[in-house]
Amino acid sequence: MPLLIRNGQIITASDSYRADIYCEDQTISKIGTDLQAAPAATVIDAGGKLVFPGFIDPHVHIYLPFMGTFAKDTYETASVAALFGGTTTLIEMICPSRSEEPMQAFELWRGKAEGKSACDFTFHMGVTRYDPAAESQFREIVRAGISSFKVFLAYKGAFGVDDAELYQALRLAKELGVIVTAHCENAELVAQRQKELIAAGKTGPQWHEPSRPESVEAEGVHHLMSFAAMHDTHCYIVHTSCEPAAREALAARTRGVKVWIETLIQYLTLDKTHAELPDFQAAKFVMSPPLRDRRNQQFLWENLANGQISTVATDHAPFDFSGQKEMGRGDFTKIPNGIPSLEDRINVLYTAGVKSGRMDVQRFVDCASTQAARIFGLYPRKGTIRVGSDGDLVIFDPNRPSKISVKTQHMAVDYNPFEGMEIAGRAEAVCVRGQVMVRDGKFVGDRKRGRFLQREPNHF
Ligand code: URP
Ligand code: ZN
Ligand code: ZN
Repeated sequence: MPLLIRNGQIITASDSYRADIYCEDQTISKIGTDLQAAPAATVIDAGGKLVFPGFIDPHVHIYLPFMGTFAKDTYETASVAALFGGTTTLIEMICPSRSEEPMQAFELWRGKAEGKSACDFTFHMGVTRYDPAAESQFREIVRAGISSFKVFLAYKGAFGVDDAELYQALRLAKELGVIVTAHCENAELVAQRQKELIAAGKTGPQWHEPSRPESVEAEGVHHLMSFAAMHDTHCYIVHTSCEPAAREALAARTRGVKVWIETLIQYLTLDKTHAELPDFQAAKFVMSPPLRDRRNQQFLWENLANGQISTVATDHAPFDFSGQKEMGRGDFTKIPNGIPSLEDRINVLYTAGVKSGRMDVQRFVDCASTQAARIFGLYPRKGTIRVGSDGDLVIFDPNRPSKISVKTQHMAVDYNPFEGMEIAGRAEAVCVRGQVMVRDGKFVGDRKRGRFLQREPNHF
């Protein structure tokens, strides 16, 4: 059924103008004034509202076997939560164990999503082991439409690769025209620090940050940059939490390394004091890299606003406080790392970024949608509003205040790290390829609408 969105203020990464948008056959077919709707069309009056391209979250975990448990969401819950928050495309990390074959993992992760997702999706392929058998499967996976890898420099003994594997993964990525996303923390430094702290009786969640301080992350970034320079591989540093780590990437960029930087909504708005709360509440905020000293936030906001930091993601990795985070009572190294944020990224970023004057609304669209589409080979199908693009659209009411609460969220987890935070506005309607999925706080779409997005390598 066609869709007409009338009279909204259209905002892209470069423009702001008032117009109507008409969608047919899943794509935007017309943009103009006084567009006429076919009799069967759905018509939305967007007067007084902002119309954004669907937002893209380039760093999400849904199926995640990790630290002796599994992340809580399924595609059924996560994709609906994403849509309520204005995210119409997500990129999930495929994170196999070292003993799993990459192709089996690709099929397993894809099987968890196909026919179960309300929003569109694709994957970064985790390179968690590198040998000739794995290499030939990575080639096949790229041919199947995956144009990004993920490597972990942390999580020794789980997802982490050694230096020889890192070198080979970056070499292959360059050959295939694939970008490598990377979790940068020095695994050995983390292991040594954890051992020392636990031996000294420092077992509470507040010791998670000191076990992997800013310098551990900065060293990880420096390490990746040295390796990437050897092959001239395109790289993307995920979840950059602090100034020293970002500076390492920016310095490498001035030396000619092709690197993009992601930060997370939680690093911009929460800080280390959350991970120091009493009564084990701090465990709700344990993630890696950890929440940092608040002094980092000014640097992150400034470099986000000026485009040096390209994207804001979530690294959504939800674990219940009850029963899951509690696995680490008495030993912080056993607290499952990660926090839920998929549903709240856009509302929090709009409030803390645009409404508070830290970034303009075009840059908001750029860092929450357009850049991810460009970096990961989805542009201009996704990430913008133009004729021929998918009809992924968010009609946003910028003046509709509310408070974030676990009681009203759609993520399948028993707490919300932003609990009580006041937000200025929210998505009033969210559309995926021309179909209205969320309207006035209700899910009204097809819960199986989401499609796997094939991506081509060499899109730079
Ligand atoms: O703490 C985090 N970030 N958990 C999810 C896995 C990862 O490192 O991205
Ligand atoms: Zn990570
Ligand atoms: Zn992650």
